[in-house]
Amino acid sequence: MKQTSLNIPVQIFPDFKSLEPADAILLEAARQATENAYAPYSKFRVGAAVRLTNGQILTGSNQENASFPAGLCAERVTLSAASATFPGIAITDLALTYINESGTGNRPISPCGICRQTLAEYEQRFGRSMRLILGGISGEIFILNRATDLLPFAFSSQELKPD
Ligand code: THU
Repeated sequence: MKQTSLNIPVQIFPDFKSLEPADAILLEAARQATENAYAPYSKFRVGAAVRLTNGQILTGSNQENASFPAGLCAERVTLSAASATFPGIAITDLALTYINESGTGNRPISPCGICRQTLAEYEQRFGRSMRLILGGISGEIFILNRATDLLPFAFSSQELKPD
């Protein structure tokens, strides 16, 4: 028997103003994107912003549906928009934030399980890591070096290949 453990590096910034300017710009774009959320059911408005290797910034927000499972998270809306608009261009960073029903949100948000799977495939597909900048309306901001760190032992296309 062997035993090992995983180490997930996380940088914790005390607030928005202590971020590097490029990260602050991306998180601010995500904040603005919360205004375009369609979240009449949860009233939990999520915004995401990605920076591409060509410098372009694209945003997205959660889009819900009366048939709840048809709704989409902000991360997957944004990743799909990037891939559909700039196919083949990798994403370097993704910022994510939210505003809840009471207009607050002082903890960083973290991608849901399905979005983690989607983020992991983007990293695999482009062969590069995607930094995650996770924030709220106020409070600490977490920065992770790569999305795959949030999904250890992930299922991937490797598993679909015959032995
Ligand atoms: N949501 C996101 O957009 N991203 C996440 O990572 C977590 C959840 C959305 C889905 C739904 O519209 C609302 O937040 C409440 O779950």
